[in-house]
Amino acid sequence: MPATSVIGLQWGDEAKGKIVDLLTEKHDIVVRYQGGANAGHTVVMGEEKFKLSLIPSGIFRPQVTCVVAGGVVLNPASILDEIDALRARGIQIGENLMLSDRVHVIFPWHFEEDRLIDGKCTSGEALGTTMRGIGPCYRDKVGRSFAIRLGDMYRPEFRDRVGQIVAVKKEMLAGLGGKAGDIKLSAEAIFADYKGYAQRLKPHVADTTAFLLDAIEADKKVLFEGAQGALLDIDHGTFPFVTSSNSSGVGVSSGSGVPGRYIDKVIGIIKAYTTRVGGGPFPTEQDNETGREIRERGNEYGTVTKRPRRCGWLDAVSARYTARLSGVDVLAGMLLDVPALLPELKICTAYELDGRRTHDFPSHVDDLRRVVPVYETLPGWQEEITEVRDMDDLPENARKYVERISRLVERPVEIVSVGPERNQTMFAKP
Ligand code: GDP
Ligand code: IMO
Ligand code: MG
Repeated sequence: MPATSVIGLQWGDEAKGKIVDLLTEKHDIVVRYQGGANAGHTVVMGEEKFKLSLIPSGIFRPQVTCVVAGGVVLNPASILDEIDALRARGIQIGENLMLSDRVHVIFPWHFEEDRLIDGKCTSGEALGTTMRGIGPCYRDKVGRSFAIRLGDMYRPEFRDRVGQIVAVKKEMLAGLGGKAGDIKLSAEAIFADYKGYAQRLKPHVADTTAFLLDAIEADKKVLFEGAQGALLDIDHGTFPFVTSSNSSGVGVSSGSGVPGRYIDKVIGIIKAYTTRVGGGPFPTEQDNETGREIRERGNEYGTVTKRPRRCGWLDAVSARYTARLSGVDVLAGMLLDVPALLPELKICTAYELDGRRTHDFPSHVDDLRRVVPVYETLPGWQEEITEVRDMDDLPENARKYVERISRLVERPVEIVSVGPERNQTMFAKP
Protein backbone atom coordinates (compact mmCIF):
# COMPACT_ATOMS: atom_id res chain seq x y z
CA MET A 1 0.00 0.00 0.00
CA PRO A 2 2.65 2.49 -0.92
CA ALA A 3 1.45 6.08 -0.94
CA THR A 4 3.74 9.09 -0.92
CA SER A 5 2.98 12.70 -0.13
CA VAL A 6 4.82 15.81 -1.23
CA ILE A 7 4.59 18.69 1.24
CA GLY A 8 6.04 22.21 1.02
CA LEU A 9 7.83 23.09 4.26
CA GLN A 10 7.87 26.87 3.92
CA TRP A 11 5.30 29.48 2.82
CA GLY A 12 4.66 27.91 -0.59
CA ASP A 13 6.38 27.92 -3.98
CA GLU A 14 9.05 25.45 -2.88
CA ALA A 15 8.86 23.78 -6.33
CA LYS A 16 6.41 21.06 -5.33
CA GLY A 17 5.12 20.92 -8.92
CA LYS A 18 8.53 19.99 -10.30
CA ILE A 19 8.95 17.12 -7.83
CA VAL A 20 5.41 15.82 -8.28
CA ASP A 21 5.89 15.79 -12.06
CA LEU A 22 9.14 13.83 -11.66
CA LEU A 23 7.74 11.30 -9.20
CA THR A 24 4.58 10.79 -11.23
CA GLU A 25 6.51 8.44 -13.49
CA LYS A 26 6.47 5.85 -10.71
CA HIS A 27 2.85 6.35 -9.62
CA ASP A 28 -0.60 5.36 -10.86
CA ILE A 29 -2.57 8.21 -9.31
CA VAL A 30 -1.75 11.82 -8.34
CA VAL A 31 -4.08 13.59 -5.92
CA ARG A 32 -4.67 17.27 -5.09
CA TYR A 33 -6.54 17.31 -1.79
CA GLN A 34 -6.64 20.91 -0.46
CA GLY A 35 -6.42 24.51 -1.59
CA GLY A 36 -7.72 25.76 -4.90
CA ALA A 37 -6.66 28.05 -7.70
CA ASN A 38 -4.53 29.99 -5.21
CA ALA A 39 -1.83 27.42 -5.99
CA GLY A 40 0.54 27.91 -8.90
CA HIS A 41 2.70 24.90 -9.67
CA THR A 42 5.23 25.12 -12.48
CA VAL A 43 6.41 22.20 -14.55
CA VAL A 44 9.16 22.71 -17.12
CA MET A 45 9.86 20.26 -19.94
CA GLY A 46 12.50 21.49 -22.33
CA GLU A 47 11.17 24.60 -24.05
CA GLU A 48 7.70 24.05 -22.62
CA LYS A 49 6.62 25.66 -19.34
CA PHE A 50 3.26 24.80 -17.79
CA LYS A 51 1.60 26.54 -14.85
CA LEU A 52 -1.03 24.53 -13.04
CA SER A 53 -3.47 25.80 -10.45
CA LEU A 54 -6.08 23.12 -9.85
CA ILE A 55 -5.04 20.24 -12.06
CA PRO A 56 -2.52 17.90 -10.42
CA SER A 57 1.03 18.09 -11.74
CA GLY A 58 0.73 14.44 -12.82
CA ILE A 59 -1.34 15.41 -15.86
CA PHE A 60 1.60 15.25 -18.29
CA ARG A 61 1.77 11.46 -18.12
CA PRO A 62 -1.44 10.15 -19.72
CA GLN A 63 -1.30 6.74 -18.04
CA VAL A 64 -1.65 8.43 -14.64
CA THR A 65 -5.05 9.26 -13.15
CA CYS A 66 -5.19 12.76 -11.67
CA VAL A 67 -7.68 13.28 -8.87
CA VAL A 68 -8.99 16.54 -7.41
CA ALA A 69 -10.25 15.27 -4.06
CA GLY A 70 -12.99 16.59 -1.79
CA GLY A 71 -10.82 18.89 0.32
CA VAL A 72 -10.21 21.22 -2.63
CA VAL A 73 -12.30 24.32 -3.35
CA LEU A 74 -13.08 24.43 -7.04
CA ASN A 75 -13.60 27.41 -9.30
CA PRO A 76 -15.28 25.70 -12.28
CA ALA A 77 -14.46 28.46 -14.77
CA SER A 78 -10.84 28.35 -13.72
CA ILE A 79 -10.44 24.59 -14.10
CA LEU A 80 -12.21 24.66 -17.47
CA ASP A 81 -9.78 27.34 -18.66
CA GLU A 82 -6.92 25.19 -17.44
CA ILE A 83 -8.28 22.12 -19.23
CA ASP A 84 -8.74 24.10 -22.47
CA ALA A 85 -5.27 25.62 -22.27
CA LEU A 86 -3.62 22.25 -21.63
CA ARG A 87 -5.57 20.54 -24.43
CA ALA A 88 -4.60 23.35 -26.80
CA ARG A 89 -0.98 22.43 -26.06
CA GLY A 90 -1.54 18.75 -26.81
CA ILE A 91 -2.02 17.44 -23.27
CA GLN A 92 -4.58 14.66 -23.09
CA ILE A 93 -7.38 15.27 -20.60
CA GLY A 94 -10.24 12.79 -20.46
CA GLU A 95 -10.83 9.91 -18.11
CA ASN A 96 -7.42 10.62 -16.61
CA LEU A 97 -8.91 13.59 -14.69
CA MET A 98 -11.37 12.96 -11.87
CA LEU A 99 -13.09 15.61 -9.77
CA SER A 100 -14.68 14.77 -6.46
CA ASP A 101 -18.41 15.45 -6.22
CA ARG A 102 -17.61 16.61 -2.67
CA VAL A 103 -15.44 19.60 -3.61
CA HIS A 104 -16.92 22.92 -2.54
CA VAL A 105 -17.59 25.29 -5.40
CA ILE A 106 -16.39 28.89 -5.58
CA PHE A 107 -19.05 31.37 -6.73
CA PRO A 108 -18.84 35.06 -7.70
CA TRP A 109 -19.87 36.17 -4.21
CA HIS A 110 -16.74 34.52 -2.82
CA PHE A 111 -14.54 36.79 -4.95
CA GLU A 112 -16.43 39.84 -3.68
CA GLU A 113 -16.00 38.72 -0.09
CA ASP A 114 -12.29 38.11 -0.58
CA ARG A 115 -11.92 41.63 -1.99
CA LEU A 116 -13.99 43.33 0.70
CA ILE A 117 -12.54 41.48 3.69
CA ASP A 118 -8.84 41.17 2.86
CA GLY A 119 -7.90 44.75 3.70
CA LYS A 120 -9.81 44.59 6.97
CA CYS A 121 -7.64 41.98 8.59
CA THR A 122 -5.93 41.34 11.52
CA SER A 123 -2.92 42.40 13.45
CA GLY A 124 -2.72 45.70 11.57
CA GLU A 125 -1.77 44.09 8.26
CA ALA A 126 -3.72 42.83 5.26
CA LEU A 127 -3.64 39.09 4.64
CA GLY A 128 -2.73 39.73 1.02
CA THR A 129 -4.74 36.80 -0.31
CA THR A 130 -4.59 35.66 -3.90
CA MET A 131 -8.17 36.99 -4.35
CA ARG A 132 -9.30 33.65 -5.67
CA GLY A 133 -12.23 33.36 -3.22
CA ILE A 134 -10.47 30.66 -1.25
CA GLY A 135 -11.11 31.84 2.33
CA PRO A 136 -14.76 32.77 1.70
CA CYS A 137 -15.50 29.41 0.08
CA TYR A 138 -13.91 27.47 2.95
CA ARG A 139 -15.80 29.72 5.38
CA ASP A 140 -19.08 28.71 3.73
CA LYS A 141 -18.01 25.07 3.77
CA VAL A 142 -17.47 25.15 7.52
CA GLY A 143 -20.56 27.33 8.04
CA ARG A 144 -22.61 24.93 5.86
CA SER A 145 -25.66 27.15 5.34
CA PHE A 146 -24.45 28.78 2.09
CA ALA A 147 -22.28 26.01 0.71
CA ILE A 148 -22.69 24.30 -2.64
CA ARG A 149 -20.68 21.22 -3.55
CA LEU A 150 -19.98 20.05 -7.06
CA GLY A 151 -22.43 17.18 -6.65
CA ASP A 152 -25.20 19.66 -5.74
CA MET A 153 -24.95 21.28 -9.16
CA TYR A 154 -26.51 18.22 -10.80
CA ARG A 155 -29.56 18.17 -8.53
CA PRO A 156 -32.95 19.73 -9.29
CA GLU A 157 -32.68 22.06 -6.26
CA PHE A 158 -29.60 23.79 -7.63
CA ARG A 159 -31.45 26.73 -9.23
CA ASP A 160 -33.42 27.51 -6.04
CA ARG A 161 -30.35 27.13 -3.89
CA VAL A 162 -28.47 29.73 -5.94
CA GLY A 163 -31.45 32.09 -5.66
CA GLN A 164 -31.63 31.74 -1.88
CA ILE A 165 -27.92 32.22 -1.37
CA VAL A 166 -27.70 35.22 -3.70
CA ALA A 167 -30.44 36.98 -1.73
CA VAL A 168 -28.55 36.54 1.54
CA LYS A 169 -25.12 37.26 0.08
CA LYS A 170 -26.25 40.59 -1.38
CA GLU A 171 -27.16 41.76 2.11
CA MET A 172 -23.99 40.38 3.61
CA LEU A 173 -21.81 42.05 1.02
CA ALA A 174 -23.57 45.37 1.48
CA GLY A 175 -22.91 44.98 5.22
CA LEU A 176 -19.23 44.49 4.46
CA GLY A 177 -19.17 47.83 2.71
CA GLY A 178 -19.77 46.67 -0.85
CA LYS A 179 -21.48 49.32 -2.93
CA ALA A 180 -24.67 48.25 -4.69
CA GLY A 181 -23.10 48.94 -8.07
CA ASP A 182 -20.11 46.70 -7.29
CA ILE A 183 -22.19 43.69 -6.39
CA LYS A 184 -23.49 42.39 -9.66
CA LEU A 185 -25.01 39.20 -8.41
CA SER A 186 -27.81 37.97 -10.62
CA ALA A 187 -29.07 34.58 -9.50
CA GLU A 188 -30.31 33.71 -12.97
CA ALA A 189 -27.07 34.64 -14.68
CA ILE A 190 -25.00 32.75 -12.13
CA PHE A 191 -27.25 29.71 -12.39
CA ALA A 192 -26.98 29.73 -16.18
CA ASP A 193 -23.18 30.04 -16.12
CA TYR A 194 -22.71 27.36 -13.51
CA LYS A 195 -25.17 24.98 -15.16
CA GLY A 196 -23.01 25.26 -18.25
CA TYR A 197 -19.82 24.62 -16.28
CA ALA A 198 -21.45 21.63 -14.58
CA GLN A 199 -22.35 20.10 -17.93
CA ARG A 200 -18.83 20.44 -19.24
CA LEU A 201 -17.28 19.05 -16.07
CA LYS A 202 -19.71 16.14 -15.75
CA PRO A 203 -17.55 13.46 -17.43
CA HIS A 204 -14.90 14.04 -14.75
CA VAL A 205 -17.13 14.06 -11.66
CA ALA A 206 -17.01 11.03 -9.39
CA ASP A 207 -16.90 9.82 -5.82
CA THR A 208 -13.13 10.07 -5.57
CA THR A 209 -13.06 8.96 -1.93
CA ALA A 210 -14.40 5.55 -2.95
CA PHE A 211 -12.08 5.50 -5.96
CA LEU A 212 -9.00 6.23 -3.84
CA LEU A 213 -9.88 3.72 -1.12
CA ASP A 214 -10.39 1.04 -3.80
CA ALA A 215 -7.11 2.02 -5.42
CA ILE A 216 -5.19 1.89 -2.16
CA GLU A 217 -6.66 -1.50 -1.32
CA ALA A 218 -5.69 -2.71 -4.80
CA ASP A 219 -2.08 -1.66 -4.13
CA LYS A 220 -2.06 1.16 -6.68
CA LYS A 221 0.71 3.69 -6.19
CA VAL A 222 -0.73 6.99 -5.06
CA LEU A 223 1.07 10.33 -4.86
CA PHE A 224 -0.44 13.21 -2.87
CA GLU A 225 0.43 16.70 -4.10
CA GLY A 226 0.34 19.35 -1.39
CA ALA A 227 -0.51 22.90 -2.33
CA GLN A 228 0.75 25.98 -0.46
CA GLY A 229 3.30 25.30 2.26
CA ALA A 230 3.04 23.97 5.80
CA LEU A 231 3.57 27.43 7.33
CA LEU A 232 0.34 28.48 5.60
CA ASP A 233 -1.62 25.68 7.33
CA ILE A 234 -4.87 27.03 8.79
CA ASP A 235 -4.37 25.26 12.13
CA HIS A 236 -0.61 24.92 12.47
CA GLY A 237 0.79 27.78 10.39
CA THR A 238 1.36 31.47 11.07
CA PHE A 239 -2.30 32.19 11.79
CA PRO A 240 -4.02 34.41 10.70
CA PHE A 241 -1.52 34.91 7.87
CA VAL A 242 -2.26 31.53 6.38
CA THR A 243 -4.51 29.97 3.78
CA SER A 244 -7.82 28.35 4.70
CA SER A 245 -6.90 24.66 4.46
CA ASN A 246 -4.54 22.19 6.12
CA SER A 247 -1.58 22.63 3.82
CA SER A 248 0.88 20.77 6.04
CA GLY A 249 1.13 16.97 6.04
CA VAL A 250 -1.77 16.71 8.47
CA GLY A 251 -4.22 17.66 5.71
CA VAL A 252 -3.70 14.70 3.42
CA SER A 253 -6.21 12.41 5.10
CA SER A 254 -9.00 14.89 5.71
CA GLY A 255 -8.70 16.30 2.20
CA SER A 256 -8.49 13.01 0.31
CA GLY A 257 -10.38 10.57 2.52
CA VAL A 258 -7.36 8.25 2.59
CA PRO A 259 -6.25 7.37 6.14
CA GLY A 260 -2.76 8.47 7.12
CA ARG A 261 -1.71 4.88 7.86
CA TYR A 262 -1.49 4.24 4.11
CA ILE A 263 1.09 6.95 3.53
CA ASP A 264 4.47 5.37 3.92
CA LYS A 265 6.66 8.19 2.65
CA VAL A 266 6.49 11.94 3.10
CA ILE A 267 8.83 14.14 1.07
CA GLY A 268 9.38 17.62 2.47
CA ILE A 269 10.13 20.22 -0.20
CA ILE A 270 12.41 23.01 0.91
CA LYS A 271 14.17 25.63 -1.11
CA ALA A 272 17.68 26.81 -0.40
CA TYR A 273 16.29 30.07 1.00
CA THR A 274 12.83 31.27 2.06
CA THR A 275 10.10 33.20 0.26
CA ARG A 276 6.68 34.45 1.20
CA VAL A 277 3.90 36.12 -0.80
CA GLY A 278 1.35 38.25 1.01
CA GLY A 279 1.27 39.55 4.58
CA GLY A 280 2.54 38.18 7.87
CA PRO A 281 5.79 37.89 9.80
CA PHE A 282 8.90 36.49 8.13
CA PRO A 283 11.83 36.48 10.59
CA THR A 284 14.61 35.88 8.06
CA GLU A 285 13.33 38.30 5.41
CA GLN A 286 16.03 40.24 3.59
CA ASP A 287 14.47 43.43 2.32
CA ASN A 288 17.80 44.48 0.85
CA GLU A 289 20.29 43.72 -1.93
CA THR A 290 20.59 40.03 -0.93
CA GLY A 291 16.80 39.64 -1.07
CA ARG A 292 16.73 41.35 -4.45
CA GLU A 293 19.48 39.12 -5.84
CA ILE A 294 17.62 36.02 -4.71
CA ARG A 295 14.38 37.34 -6.24
CA GLU A 296 15.96 38.07 -9.60
CA ARG A 297 18.02 34.88 -9.89
CA GLY A 298 15.16 32.74 -8.58
CA ASN A 299 12.55 34.59 -10.63
CA GLU A 300 10.60 34.90 -7.41
CA TYR A 301 7.40 36.44 -8.70
CA GLY A 302 4.04 34.88 -7.86
CA THR A 303 2.82 32.26 -10.34
CA VAL A 304 -0.81 33.20 -9.71
CA THR A 305 -0.74 36.91 -8.87
CA LYS A 306 2.68 37.94 -10.31
CA ARG A 307 3.46 39.72 -7.04
CA PRO A 308 7.17 39.95 -6.18
CA ARG A 309 7.84 37.33 -3.53
CA ARG A 310 9.47 38.47 -0.30
CA CYS A 311 12.85 36.70 -0.04
CA GLY A 312 15.16 35.82 2.83
CA TRP A 313 17.56 33.34 4.36
CA LEU A 314 16.71 29.73 5.03
CA ASP A 315 14.94 29.35 8.35
CA ALA A 316 15.80 25.96 9.87
CA VAL A 317 13.68 26.58 12.97
CA SER A 318 10.44 26.80 11.00
CA ALA A 319 11.52 24.04 8.58
CA ARG A 320 12.30 21.63 11.41
CA TYR A 321 8.89 22.43 12.89
CA THR A 322 7.01 21.82 9.63
CA ALA A 323 9.03 18.68 8.86
CA ARG A 324 8.07 17.22 12.23
CA LEU A 325 4.47 18.38 11.89
CA SER A 326 4.17 16.82 8.45
CA GLY A 327 5.87 13.54 9.34
CA VAL A 328 8.56 14.17 6.75
CA ASP A 329 10.92 11.27 6.03
CA VAL A 330 13.25 12.88 3.50
CA LEU A 331 13.94 16.32 2.09
CA ALA A 332 14.08 17.60 -1.47
CA GLY A 333 16.39 20.63 -1.51
CA MET A 334 15.29 22.91 -4.34
CA LEU A 335 16.68 25.94 -6.19
CA LEU A 336 20.21 25.37 -4.88
CA ASP A 337 21.48 27.14 -8.01
CA VAL A 338 19.85 30.43 -6.99
CA PRO A 339 22.16 31.51 -4.13
CA ALA A 340 25.21 30.08 -5.94
CA LEU A 341 27.00 33.38 -6.47
CA LEU A 342 26.57 34.82 -2.98
CA PRO A 343 29.88 35.15 -1.08
CA GLU A 344 28.27 33.72 2.04
CA LEU A 345 24.94 32.28 3.08
CA LYS A 346 23.14 32.45 6.38
CA ILE A 347 20.89 29.88 7.98
CA CYS A 348 18.67 30.71 10.92
CA THR A 349 19.41 28.01 13.51
CA ALA A 350 17.46 29.38 16.51
CA TYR A 351 15.27 32.28 17.59
CA GLU A 352 15.77 34.66 20.47
CA LEU A 353 12.51 35.64 22.09
CA ASP A 354 12.58 38.04 25.04
CA GLY A 355 16.27 37.30 25.52
CA ARG A 356 15.70 33.53 25.62
CA ARG A 357 17.08 31.24 22.92
CA THR A 358 14.64 28.70 21.50
CA HIS A 359 14.38 26.11 18.74
CA ASP A 360 10.61 26.00 19.02
CA PHE A 361 8.37 27.72 16.52
CA PRO A 362 6.06 30.19 18.31
CA SER A 363 2.34 29.43 18.16
CA HIS A 364 1.34 33.10 18.26
CA VAL A 365 2.01 35.39 15.35
CA ASP A 366 2.93 38.33 17.58
CA ASP A 367 5.70 36.28 19.17
CA LEU A 368 6.94 35.30 15.72
CA ARG A 369 7.05 38.99 14.85
CA ARG A 370 9.29 39.63 17.83
CA VAL A 371 11.79 36.81 17.41
CA VAL A 372 15.36 37.71 16.51
CA PRO A 373 16.90 35.08 14.23
CA VAL A 374 20.18 33.54 15.36
CA TYR A 375 22.26 32.98 12.23
CA GLU A 376 25.05 30.66 11.29
CA THR A 377 27.14 31.91 8.35
CA LEU A 378 28.43 29.47 5.77
CA PRO A 379 30.83 30.27 2.92
CA GLY A 380 29.25 30.44 -0.54
CA TRP A 381 30.55 28.38 -3.45
CA GLN A 382 30.41 31.23 -5.96
CA GLU A 383 30.11 29.15 -9.09
CA GLU A 384 27.19 28.11 -11.24
CA ILE A 385 25.93 24.59 -10.56
CA THR A 386 23.07 24.26 -13.04
CA GLU A 387 25.01 21.65 -15.05
CA VAL A 388 25.85 19.43 -12.09
CA ARG A 389 24.07 16.05 -12.25
CA ASP A 390 25.62 14.13 -9.36
CA MET A 391 25.55 15.21 -5.72
CA ASP A 392 29.20 14.19 -5.37
CA ASP A 393 30.11 16.71 -8.08
CA LEU A 394 28.62 19.70 -6.25
CA PRO A 395 31.22 22.22 -5.05
CA GLU A 396 32.32 21.38 -1.52
CA ASN A 397 30.65 24.43 0.03
CA ALA A 398 27.35 23.63 -1.70
CA ARG A 399 27.54 20.07 -0.36
CA LYS A 400 28.27 21.41 3.12
CA TYR A 401 25.31 23.78 2.88
CA VAL A 402 22.99 20.90 1.98
CA GLU A 403 24.44 18.73 4.75
CA ARG A 404 23.90 21.53 7.26
CA ILE A 405 20.25 21.90 6.25
CA SER A 406 19.82 18.16 6.61
CA ARG A 407 21.33 18.17 10.08
CA LEU A 408 19.31 21.18 11.29
CA VAL A 409 16.02 19.85 9.94
CA GLU A 410 16.97 16.36 11.16
CA ARG A 411 16.13 14.58 7.91
CA PRO A 412 18.26 13.19 5.06
CA VAL A 413 18.28 15.06 1.76
CA GLU A 414 17.21 12.63 -0.94
CA ILE A 415 16.82 15.04 -3.85
CA VAL A 416 18.73 18.17 -4.86
CA SER A 417 17.52 20.45 -7.65
CA VAL A 418 19.69 22.93 -9.54
CA GLY A 419 17.24 24.22 -12.15
CA PRO A 420 13.62 24.01 -13.26
CA GLU A 421 14.16 21.25 -15.84
CA ARG A 422 13.42 17.61 -15.12
CA ASN A 423 17.06 16.65 -15.73
CA GLN A 424 18.41 19.31 -13.35
CA THR A 425 17.67 16.99 -10.47
CA MET A 426 19.95 14.68 -8.46
CA PHE A 427 18.94 11.76 -6.27
CA ALA A 428 20.98 10.59 -3.30
CA LYS A 429 22.59 7.19 -3.83
CA PRO A 430 20.87 4.51 -1.78
P1 GDP B 1 5.26 25.25 -6.26
O1 GDP B 1 4.10 26.17 -6.04
O2 GDP B 1 5.80 24.71 -4.98
O3 GDP B 1 4.99 24.15 -7.25
O4 GDP B 1 6.43 26.16 -6.86
P2 GDP B 1 6.29 27.27 -8.03
O5 GDP B 1 6.12 26.56 -9.33
O6 GDP B 1 5.30 28.30 -7.66
O7 GDP B 1 7.70 27.96 -7.92
C1 GDP B 1 8.90 27.29 -8.13
C2 GDP B 1 9.63 27.93 -9.31
O8 GDP B 1 10.96 27.50 -9.34
C3 GDP B 1 9.07 27.54 -10.67
O9 GDP B 1 9.19 28.63 -11.53
C4 GDP B 1 9.96 26.39 -11.10
O10 GDP B 1 10.02 26.24 -12.53
C5 GDP B 1 11.27 26.85 -10.56
N1 GDP B 1 12.22 25.79 -10.17
C6 GDP B 1 11.98 24.55 -9.70
N2 GDP B 1 13.13 23.96 -9.30
C7 GDP B 1 14.11 24.84 -9.54
C8 GDP B 1 15.52 24.84 -9.31
O11 GDP B 1 16.11 23.90 -8.77
N3 GDP B 1 16.19 25.97 -9.67
C9 GDP B 1 15.60 27.04 -10.23
N4 GDP B 1 16.34 28.09 -10.55
N5 GDP B 1 14.27 27.10 -10.45
C10 GDP B 1 13.54 26.01 -10.09
P1 IMO C 1 1.57 27.19 -4.00
O1 IMO C 1 0.76 25.91 -4.01
C1 IMO C 1 2.50 30.96 -2.01
C2 IMO C 1 -0.73 32.83 0.29
C3 IMO C 1 -1.24 34.15 -0.21
C4 IMO C 1 -1.65 34.81 1.09
C5 IMO C 1 -2.19 33.64 1.90
C6 IMO C 1 -3.71 33.52 1.88
O2 IMO C 1 1.88 27.71 -5.35
O3 IMO C 1 2.76 27.04 -3.12
P2 IMO C 1 -5.40 32.70 -0.02
O4 IMO C 1 -5.66 33.24 -1.39
O5 IMO C 1 -4.98 31.28 0.02
O6 IMO C 1 -6.53 33.00 0.94
O7 IMO C 1 -4.16 33.60 0.52
O8 IMO C 1 -1.62 32.47 1.35
N1 IMO C 1 -0.74 31.72 -0.70
C7 IMO C 1 0.35 31.26 -1.30
N2 IMO C 1 1.63 31.67 -1.27
N3 IMO C 1 2.17 29.88 -2.74
C8 IMO C 1 0.91 29.44 -2.77
O9 IMO C 1 0.56 28.28 -3.38
C9 IMO C 1 -0.09 30.16 -2.07
N4 IMO C 1 -1.42 30.01 -1.91
C10 IMO C 1 -1.81 30.97 -1.05
O10 IMO C 1 -0.23 34.87 -0.88
O11 IMO C 1 -0.51 35.29 1.78
MG1 MG D 1 3.53 28.12 -6.45
